[in-house]
Amino acid sequence: MKGRQEWRGAVVTRAQSIADGIRLIEFAVEGGLPPFEPGSHVSVEVMIEGAPAIRSYTCVSSDAGHIRLAVKRHENSRGGSRFMWTLVEGARLRITLPENRFALSWRASSYLLLAGGIGITPIYGMAKALSVRARPVRLAYAASTRGELAFAGELSELMGTDAEFFVSEEGRRIDLAAEFAELPPDGEAYICGPLGMLNAAKAAWAATGRPSSRLRFEVFGDSGERPEVPFSVEIAGIGKRVDVASDQSLLDALNAAGVDMIWDCLRGECGLCAVDIVELNGELDHRDVFFSDEEKREQRRMCTCVSRLAGGSAIIDTGYRKS
Ligand code: FES
Repeated sequence: MKGRQEWRGAVVTRAQSIADGIRLIEFAVEGGLPPFEPGSHVSVEVMIEGAPAIRSYTCVSSDAGHIRLAVKRHENSRGGSRFMWTLVEGARLRITLPENRFALSWRASSYLLLAGGIGITPIYGMAKALSVRARPVRLAYAASTRGELAFAGELSELMGTDAEFFVSEEGRRIDLAAEFAELPPDGEAYICGPLGMLNAAKAAWAATGRPSSRLRFEVFGDSGERPEVPFSVEIAGIGKRVDVASDQSLLDALNAAGVDMIWDCLRGECGLCAVDIVELNGELDHRDVFFSDEEKREQRRMCTCVSRLAGGSAIIDTGYRKS
């Protein structure tokens, strides 16, 4: 079974570098586009070593009726960013219409937006939408180097001192506890960044005693705490062994091996791609935000779209049975 989205043809109308290691790629979509909100994402059909695979990207807000994506080149990528970086004007591919699971509530008295690295992609659109409506908003945007800050000039111009940049190479990091302390009680925080930043934010937010529903987050689908290395799985019930390369997701490897899988978000959020772990001979690297910390510690299930093994092997049960 495939993902449930509707696919459209698209043509690249612009592809350019906008920061160190980040390319902006703009698409015109066949049949036009409905309006979409900041935080929306699309799936893109990429080609990896000649085989199609699906990757999910967050949309940059667009006033021009196009879909714009900001794609960071990951040296250790599963092949998606490598493919996206090869796209030039006129290239054709397939894309889904924008969907939003990271929407602004518009109910808060004040907003704190936190971005780490390429996590600026949804946050940029939110910052613009809130600023143009004159809603109280502060942006704290962290990157490793100043050159890696995307949209910084535009955000500074739009937000003035409400936008602050934290460059770790210059010794500046976001003080999450201090940021949350400044937020009014009925304020909301939105964060997009690597898993480590997200986990730190969740812990700092919990320490404030604020309701968890007022911290909204999105994580990069491919950011883990362990390096990507090859591993293998055996599928219970059919005895098939599937090898997963370091630049491949477990879901991609299962699909390539003809195992019947379902999925949707491809970002570790919906849990549709999860499988049972029958036996584990290695260490699990959970990269999803679907399972709770306790469920992750139990090591009984994993999301195949983003989570992987840090080497070794496992026997998994996908629910797939020969008919
Ligand atoms: S497809 Fe949604 S968690 Fe994997």
